[in-house]
Amino acid sequence: MRNGVRLLLLVAAMCLGAGVGATEWTHAVQLSPNYTLHWRPNESSVSFKIEARTLGFVGLGFSPKGGMANADIILLWVDDYTGEAHVGDYYATGNAKPRRDEIQNVELLEAEQNGTHTIVKFRREWETCDQLHDMALGEETVRLIWALGQKDPANGHDPSVWHGKQMRGTKSVYLKTASLQKKKKRANHQKPVRFWDVKMSNLLIPDNMDTRYWCKIFKLPYLDKKHHMIGYSPLIDPRNKGSVHHMILYECVHSRAHSMFARYIAHEGAACYSPKMPSDWEHCLTPIVTWAIGSEGELLPEHVGLPLSYTDYPSDTYFMLEVHYDNPTFKNARDNSGIRVHFTEELREYDGGVMTVGTTITPLHMIPPRQESYATAGYCSDECTSQMLPDTGIKVVSVVLHAHLAGRAMTLRHIRNGKELAPIVKDSHYDFNYQQARVLSNEVQIEQGDELIMECGYQTINRTEPTFVS
Ligand SMILES: *[C@@H]1O[C@H](CO)[C@@H](O)[C@H](O)[C@H]1NC(C)=O
Ligand SMILES: *[C@@H]1O[C@H](CO)[C@@H](O)[C@H](O)[C@H]1NC(C)=O
Ligand SMILES: *[C@@H]1O[C@H](CO)[C@@H](O)[C@H](O)[C@H]1NC(C)=O
Ligand SMILES: *[C@@H]1O[C@H](CO)[C@@H](O)[C@H](O)[C@H]1NC(C)=O
Repeated sequence: MRNGVRLLLLVAAMCLGAGVGATEWTHAVQLSPNYTLHWRPNESSVSFKIEARTLGFVGLGFSPKGGMANADIILLWVDDYTGEAHVGDYYATGNAKPRRDEIQNVELLEAEQNGTHTIVKFRREWETCDQLHDMALGEETVRLIWALGQKDPANGHDPSVWHGKQMRGTKSVYLKTASLQKKKKRANHQKPVRFWDVKMSNLLIPDNMDTRYWCKIFKLPYLDKKHHMIGYSPLIDPRNKGSVHHMILYECVHSRAHSMFARYIAHEGAACYSPKMPSDWEHCLTPIVTWAIGSEGELLPEHVGLPLSYTDYPSDTYFMLEVHYDNPTFKNARDNSGIRVHFTEELREYDGGVMTVGTTITPLHMIPPRQESYATAGYCSDECTSQMLPDTGIKVVSVVLHAHLAGRAMTLRHIRNGKELAPIVKDSHYDFNYQQARVLSNEVQIEQGDELIMECGYQTINRTEPTFVS
């Protein structure tokens, strides 16, 4: 595990804000085939609806690390005999029966039971007054834990019936994030959405390295006019699930792109940024897709599209796909992973782009061993934003946080005229296995002359060697 250090933060940037309607269930996640959670965030509170295939109890918890230890737990059930609904606010200290909080902070809205399912609606504040036993919820990653009990708690109060090993689980989510669901439904595309698959072709991943960045050149399909990318999804080779750690698709920008890159189309690829990589590929620097493990892909908000080529049309554009494989136990594996790019000729209102903020890979970035908490920072000064951003500034619509296994907390701080503004994104519960893009509830403006500080916190308590860039 020498790769705990590399981190970068990716910000897709654009213009204008958009609201989300208040009455629908705007977010949903299927926690198991028998348990669907819907929710609706607003400024002060979050409302939930659970549909679960049980006539016993339903449990939903918020956990710092994914287990029951220190979890804030809500239990709900409808009494099979009286039809009376019960809700309780609990906490757990370990894998044992949860205890009822002294202060109850869950409001039951509705509950019903049909022949097979329990359907409950309830609400809680993001932050309650019970700092002892309730977890503060918000924009940071939260590990949901869930359980289904087959029977109602025996005495009408105490959930003494165990849920059993099959009827529980954990899943990381962002509760307070803008939803694309409603917009997705409204989107009525006149022109079909097309896709382009950019993937490795039976690449042999040697077993003599425990981590590997592989780069390969691709040509964009012929386009006669400007098109917008509206989203992407990962294509992970099922054989290598868990080993494909991140993928970045870069546009190769050069005035003579064709004469420079056409010859590389048949090239099998090379270890990225190694002496074996042709130096021409160093022109492939403009990221349009950044995917990392645990993400299901991303759909851009309806008013934003990424131009698939920044050069003239008809297109003659080349891209480089970088795939980071990470698995010390690789045995000469073969891989076909990559990215599906969804695009359309129906242009959106604004052009988007991707900006990377953070610490680049250098041998000087080192995390000492045995650290409970160790911080580093990447700094983009006022000069940096003045040179990089357009006169109008940019709007941030979506953010991907990326760190390796030792990463625990990440904050992108934002300073204007010497005064610190609210952080653009902050997560002290960073989950390496859930690097889903975050669509911001409120788009953030970054002006020329603003300063950005990307702070990363690491934990290396069980490592005996310094962690270097791999
Ligand atoms: C879903 O519930 C049904 C009925 O209780 C049960 O037979 C089935 O095993 C459950 N499925 C899962 C994946 O838990
Ligand atoms: C949030 O939603 C709850 C329940 O729907 C409502 O009572 C409350 O007024 C809303 N708060 C805001 C700030 O919109
Ligand atoms: C019971 O509720 C579930 C979840 O809402 C639904 O899928 C199912 O069709 C309902 N069954 C009946 C008999 O109404
Ligand atoms: C460190 O190792 C100890 C002993 O094996 C283990 O109990 C603990 O969970 C580990 N901590 C982390 C953060 O991995």
